[in-house]
Formats: sequence, C-alpha cells, structure tokens
Amino acid sequence: MEFVTLNNGLVMPQLGYGVFKVPEQEVYEAVREALRVGYRSIDTAMIYENEAGVGRALKDSGIPREDIFLTTKVWNKDQGYERTLAAFETSLQKLGVDYVDLYLIHWPMPDEDLYMDTWRALEQLYRDGKAKAIGVSNFHIPHLTRVLEEGTVVPAVNQIELHPFLSQEAIRAFCQKNGIVVEAWSPLMKGRDALTDPVITDIAARHGKTPAQVVLRWHLQHDIIAIPKSVTPSRIQENLDIFDFVLSPDDMRQIDQLNRNERTGSNPDEMHKK
Ligand SMILES: NC(=O)c1ccc[n+]([C@@H]2O[C@H](COP(=O)([O-])OP(=O)(O)OC[C@H]3O[C@@H](n4cnc5c(N)ncnc54)[C@H](OP(=O)(O)O)[C@@H]3O)[C@@H](O)[C@H]2O)c1
Repeated sequence: MEFVTLNNGLVMPQLGYGVFKVPEQEVYEAVREALRVGYRSIDTAMIYENEAGVGRALKDSGIPREDIFLTTKVWNKDQGYERTLAAFETSLQKLGVDYVDLYLIHWPMPDEDLYMDTWRALEQLYRDGKAKAIGVSNFHIPHLTRVLEEGTVVPAVNQIELHPFLSQEAIRAFCQKNGIVVEAWSPLMKGRDALTDPVITDIAARHGKTPAQVVLRWHLQHDIIAIPKSVTPSRIQENLDIFDFVLSPDDMRQIDQLNRNERTGSNPDEMHKK
C-alpha cells in the first residue's frame, strides 16, 4: 500500500475500496473480502444505505479500528448545521464506531446555499475529534474558494469524479495549490470505455497488467487517491495489485491525452434536487 499525508497530518491509504450501490445484504461479504485481501480504507455514504453492513464487516474482521480508514458523507437533504450534526450521529450509530476518519459534504448543492452552514458543522465535528479529518466532494473551484475564504479549516480532501476521460486538471491544480488532496470517484469510469481504449489496453499489454490496473496506477502516480468499487472477488484483488509496476513518463503522458471531459455522473453545478 502507498499512503498520502493529509493537510492535518492524518495518513490515508492511497487506494481504498468504494461501496456505492452495493446493497446492504451484499456489502458485508464484499467489505470482508476487501479487508481480507488487504484494503484498509473504505468509502461509504449515508445515501448508499449500507453503513450498517460496512460497520458489521469492520467489526467482524477483527482488524483494530485504528488500522482502518473509514469515510462517510452527509447527504444533500441533511445539509445545514443542525441537520448535519444529527445525520453524523446516525451514521456513527449505523457504522457502530465512535469516530470516522474522514467526513465529507457529498455535493455542494449551490442552489440550496447551505454548504457553508454544513461546513461549520463539519468543523465542529472535527474540533470534537469525532471526524479525524473533514473534506468535501464534488466541489468546483468557486465552491472550494468560498470554503477557503469563509471557513476556519481547510478541507483535507475533495472527492470528485476523475478518470482518464475526465482528468479534472483545473481542479487538481487548484487543490494542489491549496493543500487539498484529490480523491477520485469512479476511478475506473464505472468499468466503461476508458478500460477498452486502445491507448490503455496497449500500455496494459506492455506491462503485463490489466487496463483497470493501469488506470489505477495512473491515479496513484498523479498523487490522487482512488477508491475503485467491485463486488467481484477476483477484481477486488486485481485492483489492489498495482504496487509492483510503474508507468513511464511517456505512458503517463499518453493517458493524460485521453481526457475528453466525459462524465458518468452528475455535474455538481447542475445538481439541484435534494
Ligand atoms: N462522492 C460521490 O459523489 C461519489 C459518486 C460515485 C461514487 N463514489 C465512490 O467512488 C467509488 C467508486 O466509484 P464507482 O463505483 O462509481 O465506479 P468505479 O469504481 O469506477 O467502477 C465500478 C464498476 O467497475 C467494475 N470493475 C471494478 N473493477 C474492475 C476491473 N478490475 N475490471 C473491470 N471492471 C471492473 C465494477 O464491477 P463489479 O462490481 O461487478 O466487479 C463496477 O461495475 C464508489 O463505490 C463510491 O464509494 C462517490
């Protein structure tokens, strides 16, 4: 495993395991498997409705709590100071833990204009030691700028959709300048076109690795945290086996050139509904 140090000194695995849309019944086995093969960072969210299953898997794994990096997120309808504090307590209860390592605002929801109130709740949770680090997700530069100007804590992480077809260079540069680590969601483009692009498949063949492994390696070598999701045991393992090869500067350049600003998910500026 490789690690990154967040702006408050907290150390976070650079590769984590995401559980978006994994139903509660399946998530237990999936997380147990991920922990068994060596993942130590798990990314969930209130809206995934699987926090209880994640929590049971963590507990039953027997791995000490301090060896796990656990992330969850406050959902859009729970934004606002008091609601966020209440939602956080619900997440803690479901997860069966007394702190999370990273708590994120899931989406900025700019039309609601609540993300600064929400951020103040996260700052309180951080000061209380209930969240070891706090950050945001799906924040664009104007949203981040406001948090930097009006907040008292610099977000540790901005979790955004990021893969070779959506390389997010402007947000990455802004985050780097301001000490915010970028974390990629849908790092494998949800298993879609990026994994069959000839540039990626050629590089994979040359290294004797799979396209998914090449794409995850590209993230790591750009100092990005990646949290691929899979419920398939062979892929859970495959996505972790990326620490035994290095992409050359030319490989990296070729993958960088694949960007076409193609999203698989919503555009944060256009997401209005709670
Ligand atoms: N903050 C946000 O708004 C947000 C939004 C979306 C996601 N996320 C987080 O990011 C995590 C990852 O994103 P994601 O789940 O959308 O997409 P992803 O990790 O890019 O892709 C997951 C898909 O790719 C397949 N896959 C996994 N490993 C593969 C491999 N080695 N080869 C081929 N296909 C493979 C999976 O199939 P199987 O499962 O069938 O193996 C699944 O269909 C989520 O689980 C969640 O934790 C956050």
